[in-house]
Amino acid sequence: MDIEVIEKAYRRYAQGYDLYFGAVLQPGRRAVIRRMAPRGGERILEVGVGTGLSLPLYPHDTQVTGIDVSTDMLTRARQRRARHDLVHVVALRRMDGERMAFPDDSFDKVVAMYVVSVAPDPVRLVNEMRRVCASDGMLYIVNHFRNANPVVSGCERLIAPFSRAMGFRPDFPLEDFLRETRLDVAERVPVNAFGYWTLLCAHNNKATLPNRRDLRN
Ligand SMILES: C[S@@+](CC[C@H](N)C(=O)[O-])C[C@H]1O[C@@H](n2cnc3c(N)ncnc32)[C@H](O)[C@@H]1O
Repeated sequence: MDIEVIEKAYRRYAQGYDLYFGAVLQPGRRAVIRRMAPRGGERILEVGVGTGLSLPLYPHDTQVTGIDVSTDMLTRARQRRARHDLVHVVALRRMDGERMAFPDDSFDKVVAMYVVSVAPDPVRLVNEMRRVCASDGMLYIVNHFRNANPVVSGCERLIAPFSRAMGFRPDFPLEDFLRETRLDVAERVPVNAFGYWTLLCAHNNKATLPNRRDLRN
């Protein structure tokens, strides 16, 4: 998958997104923000903010920046910000999470909700999240990973060849993701219906972050 594929897919999904993925994935969004326990003045970055379904959940004394590659999804996030007068949402920008324009250490907490199995290069995305997050900051990722149940994971493998058309990878193994990103995971929590999705809370341990120059290519 590449950015053009993602944009095309989410141009299609944007209109019905809240109806299909709003309520059903909201417990996971709530769980992330509960674990995050945002404090007043904290700078929070949400990568792949989509239509902004999580934005009303942040306390109003935080400073939330959202980025996304899909203009259509962002338009809806901006409408939500205006509709609910979300003064804590300081910026909503079109930006690739794998090549962010923010300087190092710009945020206290960085989160990606249901994004890592959509992004073209999840490892690069996580490396960028770590670069822009402060050294003593925290990272939060909620996503569906390959199911442990062999019947379910068999179905996921079956539909994997249609990833491009669907705009996400249904067959995404957590072990590979953790090994390749070298995330310093502090907590792993099952969320949403049947615990089918996983919330990861990780310390931003920069010691394992690859060389800056490697990330810029
Ligand atoms: C499944 S949606 C999740 C949206 C939102 N986080 C939510 O909770 O509903 C995935 C979003 O990630 C965005 N996305 C995918 N790859 C991205 C990247 N490399 N940089 C920024 N956004 C990306 C897509 O455009 C889409 O809006």
